[in-house]
Amino acid sequence: MLTNIEQAKQIIKEADSILITAGAGMGVDSGLPDFRGTQGFWNAYPAIKELGYSFEQMAKSEWFVKDPKLAWAFYGHRLNLYRDAVPHVGFSMLLDLVKEKNDDYFIFTSNVDGHFQKAGFDTNRIYEIHGSIHHFQCMKSKKHGIWDAAEVKVDVDMQKFEALNIPTCPECGSIARPNIMMFGDWDWLAKRSDKQEALFNRWIKSQASKKLAIIEIGAGVAIPSVRMQGEHIAKRYQHATLIRINPRDFTVDKRNSISLPLGGLEGIKAILEMDESANLQEKIK
Ligand SMILES: NC(=O)c1ccc[n+]([C@@H]2O[C@H](COP(=O)([O-])OP(=O)(O)OC[C@H]3O[C@@H](n4cnc5c(N)ncnc54)[C@H](O)[C@@H]3O)[C@@H](O)[C@H]2O)c1
Ligand SMILES: [Zn+2]
Repeated sequence: MLTNIEQAKQIIKEADSILITAGAGMGVDSGLPDFRGTQGFWNAYPAIKELGYSFEQMAKSEWFVKDPKLAWAFYGHRLNLYRDAVPHVGFSMLLDLVKEKNDDYFIFTSNVDGHFQKAGFDTNRIYEIHGSIHHFQCMKSKKHGIWDAAEVKVDVDMQKFEALNIPTCPECGSIARPNIMMFGDWDWLAKRSDKQEALFNRWIKSQASKKLAIIEIGAGVAIPSVRMQGEHIAKRYQHATLIRINPRDFTVDKRNSISLPLGGLEGIKAILEMDESANLQEKIK
C-alpha cells in the first residue's frame, strides 16, 4: 500500500493543473504568526492581551473611527511585519511545480500578506478572498476606490501600541483603512477581490475534466472558507484530489483527500523533494 506521502506525490506527478489553497499556517514558516485561538493571537500581540480584546474584536472597522491610533497600531504593525518577512523556500518550490504544469494553476488564499505575489506568482492567478493589507480604501466614501499602499509608511510605537501617523485618503484626506474584510464589515470594498474571483471562477470551470491536484497548506478551522473551497471541489470534480497539509487541523473526511499532518514547509518538501519524504513518512506513521 502506498503511504500518504507517496500517494500525494503520485497525484502531483500525474496532475494536469494545481490549485494551491492557503491559510495563515502557510506564513508560519516565514516567521509570521497565525491567530489560532485567543491565546495564539495574544502571544503574537501581547499589547492587545493587556487591552483584553480577541482577534474578532480587534479586526473591526469601527476602531478606525473610535480609536484610529489603536486601529493603525494593529494594522500598521502587521503591514510592516508582512513587508519585512521573506516568503519561505516552500513558496519557490511550489512556483517551480506550477511552471512544470505550464502555469495551469491558481492560488486561493485568506492571507492578506501578499506573500504569493512577493514569491513571484502571477497576480492574475491569485484570489485573495479577504483582501490585501497592501491596499487601502477610504473610511468616508467607497467612491474613493482602492489604492496601492506601497508608498505609504506607518510607524508604530509598540510600547504604547499607538500609530505615530495615520494614513489618509489621497482623494479627500479622510482616514484610510486596509482593504481587508474585517468582522461584521459592511464597508469593505470588494471590487479588487471580486475581479480576482471572476478570474478564479473562469479558471476553475475549465478544470472540470482535468486531473487537478489541490494542495492546501495551513488553513484553519475557525473561519473555514479555505478548507471548504478545496473540499467542495474535491467532492464535485471527479478527477480532483485534495492534499491537506496541516500540523494540527489535518483531518479529512471526504473522498479524494489525503492528509499530511506536517508543518507547511516540511509538508511541501515531503511532496516535492525526493530525499525528504522517507524521513517525514517515519514521523507521521
Ligand atoms: N499571513 C496572513 O495574512 C494572516 C495571518 C493571520 C491571520 N490572517 C487572517 O486571519 C483569518 C484566519 O485565518 P486562518 O483560519 O488561516 O488562521 P488560523 O490562525 O485560524 O489557523 C491557522 C492554521 O494554520 C495551522 N498551522 C500552524 N502552524 C503551521 C505551520 N507551521 N505550517 C502549516 N500550518 C500551520 C494551524 O494548525 C491552523 O489550522 C483569515 O481571515 C486571515 O485573513 C491572515
Ligand atoms: Zn476619501
